[in-house]
This record gives sequence, structure tokens and C-alpha cells, in this order.
Amino acid sequence: MSALSNKIGLVTGAGQGIGRAIAFSFAREGAKVVVADFNEAMGQQTVELIRDFGGTASFIYGDISHEDTVKTTVDFVLGTYGRLDIACNSAAVSRGSGPIHEYERSIFDETLEMCLTNTWLCMKYQVAAMLKNGGGAIVNISSNASLRGQAFNTAYAAAKGGVNILTKSAAAEYGAKGIRINAVSPGVILTPGLEQYFEEQPEKAEGLRKKSVMNRLGTPEEIADAVSFLSSDRASFITGQILSVDGGGAVR
Ligand SMILES: NC(=O)c1ccc[n+]([C@@H]2O[C@H](COP(=O)([O-])OP(=O)(O)OC[C@H]3O[C@@H](n4cnc5c(N)ncnc54)[C@H](O)[C@@H]3O)[C@@H](O)[C@H]2O)c1
Repeated sequence: MSALSNKIGLVTGAGQGIGRAIAFSFAREGAKVVVADFNEAMGQQTVELIRDFGGTASFIYGDISHEDTVKTTVDFVLGTYGRLDIACNSAAVSRGSGPIHEYERSIFDETLEMCLTNTWLCMKYQVAAMLKNGGGAIVNISSNASLRGQAFNTAYAAAKGGVNILTKSAAAEYGAKGIRINAVSPGVILTPGLEQYFEEQPEKAEGLRKKSVMNRLGTPEEIADAVSFLSSDRASFITGQILSVDGGGAVR
């Protein structure tokens, strides 16, 4: 039996990059997966990749920073597959960087909305669904930017720091109800999102490429493997943890 056989999963931001790899990994490990994204074409493509592999997946379109969309998304999972067992909140948007004294308040607010508030909203409805079936597992995608702070990336680093403490607090709140909640903190992972960041800020690219002690970038599949493990019953006594998957970047 595979690690996630008979599980029903939801992955936000599964249209590309890390989220897509997680959705694929869930399906490869035997779960039926709902792919959520506000990029319809890419989300549908993820579903097709899973179906071509022989897995079961469905797509739901929407911006999960809006509460009504999150509710619709979780209702869609329950309506399509009857319950929700595992969820990964990977959707996030990083909006630029720069010194605090020149940073726009609107961009700070938007970063919190798209990286932290969205995760809280998703957990609110995912937990409610999981309570109905007596438990489940949630993995939030954080970032190593949250661990020691990151100059000129304060809004994103603070938002992801919020994701960490949200994860730990919620784990404490729902552990006795059978819901495990962990986070995976990626180092520098080669995704379309990262490639866009390198294009926008080429001066940052060289330093980021050398961030891990293994002197290479990570792959989305390496993040997905950790998420699938934490979502599976093999991690049945693990909750409230922030697991860095970073090629040792955090100990450099
Ligand atoms: N790539 C890295 O090096 C890296 C490092 C640390 C953390 N992360 C985190 O990993 C996660 C995935 O990153 P990635 O590099 O794969 O990103 P990406 O930009 O390549 O993909 C993100 C996906 O999420 C979707 N999305 C974003 N916000 C959404 C919303 N509100 N509603 C619906 N869909 C939404 C996008 O359409 C896209 O398909 C993010 O949480 C990111 O902060 C990435």
C-alpha cells in the first residue's frame, strides 16, 4: 500500500512549481487530489499530468486569499470526494522587495494577504472539514526567509514567520482532535516563481544559487517528498514542526 492510499487531498497553488509537485506526489502516493489555483490553464495542466500518470485529480479555479473562494474550494472537495484528509497550503505571491523606509504600505498589506492571511483562511475551512471526519493532516509551505530574518525582504519574511507560528499554534489547538499541522520551509528551489524573481532581481541570483551547503538549488520534488511524508501516517507523532528542506541552507 502506498503512503497516501485512500486519502483525499487538497493542494493550493498547485498550478506550477512546488504546489504542482506536491499535488503530483500526493497522487503518486495514492491520494485523490483537488488542485486549486488562480491560473486556470496551469491548474488544468497539473490535473492532466496526474491523470496521464493514472491518478485521480480535479481542478478548482479561484483566488484563495478570498474567504468565499476558500469556502467554495473546501465545499468542492467535500462535494466531489466526500471528505478531506490531507491539505497543503502552498499558494503564495511574493511582491517585490526593498528597504522598509521606501516600501509601500499597500505592498506590505498585499504580501500579508497573499502569504499569511490566505494560509489562515485555508486552515479555517480545512480544519472544519477535518473535524467532521475525525482528523487529518495539514502542511503549510513556509520559507527559510522566516528563520533568521531577511534584509530587504521584510514583508515576505514576516508573513512566512507568521505562517510558522500559525502552524505551531494551530497544531497545539487541534492535536487532541486528531489533526496534525506542520510546515515545510523550503530553501532556494528552482520553480517558475524563482525564475521570475531572478529575472526581476538578477543581482540576487548568484547569492541565492549558493545558499545551500550542497551548492545547488533544490527541486520542487524534494519539497513534495517531505510534504507527502508529513501528510502520511508515517509521520503520525509529528505535529507543530517547521521542517527546513534546504540543502542545509539554514546552517550555513
Ligand atoms: N521557490 C522557492 O525558492 C521558494 C522558497 C521558499 C518558499 N517558497 C514557497 O513555496 C510556495 C510555492 O512557491 P513556488 O516557487 O512554487 O511559486 P510559483 O510562483 O512558481 O507558483 C505559485 C502557484 O500558486 C498560485 N497562486 C498564488 N497565489 C494564489 C492564490 N491566492 N490563489 C490561488 N492560486 C495562487 C500561482 O498561480 C502559481 O501557480 C510558496 O508558498 C513560496 O512562498 C518557495
